Amino acid sequence: MKNKIMQIAPSVLAADFVNMEQGIRYIEEAGCDWIHLDMMDGSFVPPITFGAQMVKAIRGITDLVLDAHLMIDNPENQIDFLADAGTDNVTIHIENTIHTHRIIQQIKARGMKAGIAIVPSTPVSALSELLPFIDIVLAMTVNPGFGGQKMIPQCVDKIRQLDKIRQEKGYDYLISADGGINRETAASVREAGLDLAVAGSSFFGAANKEDEVRILQGIG
Ligand code: DX5
Ligand code: ZN
Repeated sequence: MKNKIMQIAPSVLAADFVNMEQGIRYIEEAGCDWIHLDMMDGSFVPPITFGAQMVKAIRGITDLVLDAHLMIDNPENQIDFLADAGTDNVTIHIENTIHTHRIIQQIKARGMKAGIAIVPSTPVSALSELLPFIDIVLAMTVNPGFGGQKMIPQCVDKIRQLDKIRQEKGYDYLISADGGINRETAASVREAGLDLAVAGSSFFGAANKEDEVRILQGIG
């Protein structure tokens, strides 16, 4: 996917929660196709954000792709709620799921795209039995739970590894990265072959969000 333009998925974690609709309109007006929804339960990660009810509310006001990132324990309990709420993608973490493959099957059985996320300390090799079945791999470039963190540069190599495996094996998962992606770090993930970058604070902190997206994409 080297010659394709890296897509940006703004994370609403950095939006104004009092005025979420405005955040969604910013994403639409900036020309992005995906909305990254960071769901946190206060157990897998310390903060608590929102559940399927917020996803349903957002579904009601936009046609963009709703990309749910589940930083929660027992994600299998949320699949039906999220499908009923109109979610497009559900990404779960490999670190806290034993029957990960079965949950991937559950997600796909409800017509949603299935993603697996790995935290900075999890190697790409941990995904080897799942890569043939998943639609999205989310390589966290920060430790999950918080926006506005500094990227962990050592994580970027995972993007190269995933791209190499995809080419060698003929897999078709999308490679996404998440955390600390901004003007300073975007070139490193682009050059590594990233398909889709999640951007929270760099997007919502920008005065001109459309320009910021182009800068992150390397075309601005
Ligand atoms: C962190 C979330 C990320 C975060 C990205 O746990 O998964 O999506 O919101 O925020 P920035 O882009 O500010 O690092
Ligand atoms: Zn995320």
